[in-house]
Amino acid sequence: MTPLIGTAAVPHVTRVSGRVRVPGDKSISHRYAMLAAIADGTSRLRNYAPGADCAATLACLQALGAAISRGTTLTIEGLGLRGLRQPAEPLDAANSGTSMRLLAGLLAAHPFRTVIGGDASLSRRPMRRVIEPLTRMGASIAADDGRPPLTIDGADLHGIAHAPEVPSAQVKSAVLLAGLHASGRTTVIEPAPTRDHTERAFAAFGISATREGHAVSVEGGQRLRAIDAEVPGDISSAVFWLVLAAGTPGSDLTIEGVGLNPSRTGVLDVLRRAGADIEVITSTDLPPEGGSHYRSEPGEPAGSLRVRFGNPVSFEITPEEVPGLIDEIPALAALPAMQPGITMTVRGAQELRVKESDRITMLARGFGVLGIKVEEYPDGFTIGGGRLRGGEADAAHDHRLAMAFAIAGSRAPGVVSITGADAVAVSYPRFFDELQRIARGS
Ligand code: S3P
Repeated sequence: MTPLIGTAAVPHVTRVSGRVRVPGDKSISHRYAMLAAIADGTSRLRNYAPGADCAATLACLQALGAAISRGTTLTIEGLGLRGLRQPAEPLDAANSGTSMRLLAGLLAAHPFRTVIGGDASLSRRPMRRVIEPLTRMGASIAADDGRPPLTIDGADLHGIAHAPEVPSAQVKSAVLLAGLHASGRTTVIEPAPTRDHTERAFAAFGISATREGHAVSVEGGQRLRAIDAEVPGDISSAVFWLVLAAGTPGSDLTIEGVGLNPSRTGVLDVLRRAGADIEVITSTDLPPEGGSHYRSEPGEPAGSLRVRFGNPVSFEITPEEVPGLIDEIPALAALPAMQPGITMTVRGAQELRVKESDRITMLARGFGVLGIKVEEYPDGFTIGGGRLRGGEADAAHDHRLAMAFAIAGSRAPGVVSITGADAVAVSYPRFFDELQRIARGS
């Protein structure tokens, strides 16, 4: 697996205006592709996420026997429930935790051995959180100290009730995907609500699942019907432009076609609290029965966001808010970095330490190089103070850190460069092109 290398020079931005579109949502893309592979019939997906993570899922599904063709529309021929075939080689999930954890749920239910590994970053990430429940359902999974690669011996599974210790949509989804193949009912009781794309995707593929409070249940043996769907834009990518516009005087930017699933929009509440002026614009092609602000993709709301500079103020993110915006925290940290005199504090975010990098330590280090003070806690940080300056920040091979440093760096008086910047290919391959375009228009 090739290490991500490459240094990007960050252009200077003075004002952010016009319109942008962001890549298709990564979380939804993974789920649609996996469910399409086990559905009956041919699914067609538009605006499938272009990054390396979602490409890794497709490569794994192809290795498991699914016929996939990529053009503007992605076409996946479903193999039907339990139809995946033993791959000839170990599967490579590359940098993608979602690919590994969700595929583990599917593979646990297929009666053959699969090895699934990933790059150096993924090989450090904790997998016991999926190994434990999937083993309890009947699969055998070997791993060295709970880390990848995983050797999965699938089996006939039985339903369980599982209460994960940490709120994790990946764990919930892995167990529910296994549960689709298990005898009886599988229930996941979440400690706090997490993104519900799997539940919505189930509905789109004709699977019935029930929710009661924090518990989601699915009966095994239900067959899936293929879908024809469009993936909305990724709010976790949109957030970089939201923050750049929110922190740059005179800005007025519209981001079109963004997924607005309520389990993902916590970041908008936080940005508004931080002073940003954000408007959800009614899509022009609302269905006639509309009346809400949202155009509904199969089960996934979407719309456009207009963001204007508002005088930023200090803000806090509470532990209860964290599961709803965990991926957006690096981007949010760029706001106090750009604005002298304001701070951001987040607590209850220890999960940041086991993402693509240790996002607390590496974020503190990178913003530190750019002149900004960061106080680290075991479960979070306070950022703010200091003076933004030029420097070479290390993205630590982490796509979201690369983009967060670039956004803040585009407002720095000095020259900013980012090492490991090509990590943006994981979720937003054209990020730096878009930043250049914005800088030229500014
Ligand atoms: C994701 C869930 C979150 C998130 C990740 C994508 C998903 O991870 O950070 O980027 O698609 O289910 P956890 O489940 O580990 O919280």
